[in-house]
Amino acid sequence: MPAALAVFFPLRYTRRCLAKILVTGGAGYIGSHTRYFLEQHGHSVIVVDNLSRGYREAVPDNELRVLNLQDTGKLTDLLQQEKVEAVIHFAAYISVGESTQRPELYFSNNTAGSLSLFEAMLQAGVKRVVFSSTAAAYGIPDRVPISEDQPFAPINPYGESKVMTEKILEWLDRFREFRSVRLRYFNACGASPEAGLGEMHDPETHLIPLILRAVQTGKPVTVFGDDYPTPDGTCIRDYIHVSDLAEAHIFAVEHLLNGGASDVFNVGTGSGHSVKEVVASVERVTGKKVPFTLGPRREGDPPSLVADSSKLQKNLGWKPKRADLDQIVADGWQFANRRLIEAS
Ligand code: UFG
Repeated sequence: MPAALAVFFPLRYTRRCLAKILVTGGAGYIGSHTRYFLEQHGHSVIVVDNLSRGYREAVPDNELRVLNLQDTGKLTDLLQQEKVEAVIHFAAYISVGESTQRPELYFSNNTAGSLSLFEAMLQAGVKRVVFSSTAAAYGIPDRVPISEDQPFAPINPYGESKVMTEKILEWLDRFREFRSVRLRYFNACGASPEAGLGEMHDPETHLIPLILRAVQTGKPVTVFGDDYPTPDGTCIRDYIHVSDLAEAHIFAVEHLLNGGASDVFNVGTGSGHSVKEVVASVERVTGKKVPFTLGPRREGDPPSLVADSSKLQKNLGWKPKRADLDQIVADGWQFANRRLIEAS
């Protein structure tokens, strides 16, 4: 494209690189959505998942390779045989509570597993990775909205396991020309009814699916504390639609495929909603009362986590398209009802 024209088109549109991309953890919640959107954009995908927490039915059979990240040799062979050009790395355990009970599990699965993957990539000569990091890297932030320059201060082993992996990536960038985009997610939620995909964790610990389940079953959900320093006393989070989050990965991987430098971005909407606001949204969308009880604070919950994602918007041209909370809840509700019908 002539340079004069390139001025009028963002980098993303100057060169569409359709590539072979390996997605680890592609049978999980965010991974399966990203696999779907990668294909919608014309990329081809291979999924590596050990199915310990993912769902076989979330991935077409011909794309799934059931493999452990710790198996460096098999990963190296796969990367070479499939001529993979970039990796999007989701595979990880994500439960904050579990990480405080079994920290070793998180450092082994999340940090050592990532290192094994990066070693395999180096051996196979694949040097581009998008890594799923987390707002938990910031701990209890000094300032909200949170920008990427706030320091690492995780308050649980889950957050620390991700911070350690981010640091490995910084060193690999510096000394091994290994390029990465680290995406720090805020609260992923919602579903893609058009793709038949949605949130399924076992056990479920996340707020929106638990509230939807309370509406379905009549069994109350517990609101963890209403004495936080927020306007209604309940915790505030930045709820980002999983499809918007998935699309951020497309921008990130295409940035790397186009020769872009390593970088780090927050992925959120920039708007926060309290637990009580989420309850109200579910009541609007479902037309039903949410049964809930008030409980004590949950250990390790910061009062407010809201992203400043202006860097991602400015540098890569990403924008959240489904930021309306009622829309997020409506998509989650549609998926939860479909699961209920399938289970009965
Ligand atoms: N909550 C309740 N009752 C519940 C579950 C949650 O009141 O039964 C509250 C929590 O206290 C919190 C809010 O709802 O204030 C959201 O809780 P989630 O468990 O849905 O999500 P978290 O904010 O704890 O964590 C999520 C991801 C983490 C990630 C973090 C970043 O699970 O991996 O977002 O913001 F690090």
